[in-house]
Amino acid sequence: MILANAQNALAPAGPQAQSIGSLWWMFHWIFWAIWIAVVVCMFIAIFKNRTPQDHPLQPEVKPDPAGEKRVGVVISILTGITVVILFVLLISDFVVGRKLFAMSKEDNQREIKITGQQWFWTAEYEDATASNIFTTANEFHIPVGVPIKFYLTSTDVIHSFWVPELHGKKDLIPGHDTQIWLKADKPGRYDGQCAEFCGHQHAKMRFAIIAEDADTFKKWCETQRAPARQPTTNEQIRGQQVFLNTTCITCHTIGGTKAGGRVGPPLTHVGGNQTIAANSVPNDEEHLREWINNPHQFKPGVRMPMNNLPDEDLKALAAYLHSLE
Ligand code: CUA
Repeated sequence: MILANAQNALAPAGPQAQSIGSLWWMFHWIFWAIWIAVVVCMFIAIFKNRTPQDHPLQPEVKPDPAGEKRVGVVISILTGITVVILFVLLISDFVVGRKLFAMSKEDNQREIKITGQQWFWTAEYEDATASNIFTTANEFHIPVGVPIKFYLTSTDVIHSFWVPELHGKKDLIPGHDTQIWLKADKPGRYDGQCAEFCGHQHAKMRFAIIAEDADTFKKWCETQRAPARQPTTNEQIRGQQVFLNTTCITCHTIGGTKAGGRVGPPLTHVGGNQTIAANSVPNDEEHLREWINNPHQFKPGVRMPMNNLPDEDLKALAAYLHSLE
């Protein structure tokens, strides 16, 4: 099951990834040129001055001071060119590094605190007004064109935050918070990936950044701040009862109910996400049922246990969760 977009670092959608991409292409073409030059020289050396078939076995070595001087000059020039190329690479690398960091000084940054844990992501959207702060999991919306400052923290092992189309990688280190700034130039869904091996489900420790215009983003934030929707159909009501009366509540939060577990991702607005299971499984009632019943079929080793619920309960629970937009 593949939900990924290209996750292509060479198709940048923000200034940070653009700078990194340009640097990459510069290195790429310089190295191509060097490789071609080396191969050409190699073939010249092979085919020039080939020893004739009837040449005596003992080579004649005659001193050739003029020739040796010429070779010495050529080698000095080539050494000089190599040093210049290395300096060009070093300086452009340094310039790009400065450029990436420059975003930290831009105004009107939005701050989002990302926490990585085995094997999902949560984001706390900071706000000067405490009641405006909210937390969501695995699908993170951001406004287009606004610099975003991500604080990165881990609760267990080292993870790495990577959205190839927006920026390079940054590690999340337990006990040592790090930061990364990025900006999306155009609306879109940019899939991200944990890029540091962190255990069994590392490969499916995925997430998505969804960049959208200011109004859509504002509406999304309002939705996220609100408590969970109340169930409206009989099935959803039954689903809510199943949720609140089983072990679900020990790990998950649903805002506005007694469920306040913090071991797993918050589910207050889980129905509004395009995916579940850290951006690994499509979000529809069928997949929700299969996931709740046996999450290990999608993510072997995942921390969530299997749930052996009666069919009707399982169906109602999936319907309830899917209604939580
Ligand atoms: Cu988290 Cu790999």
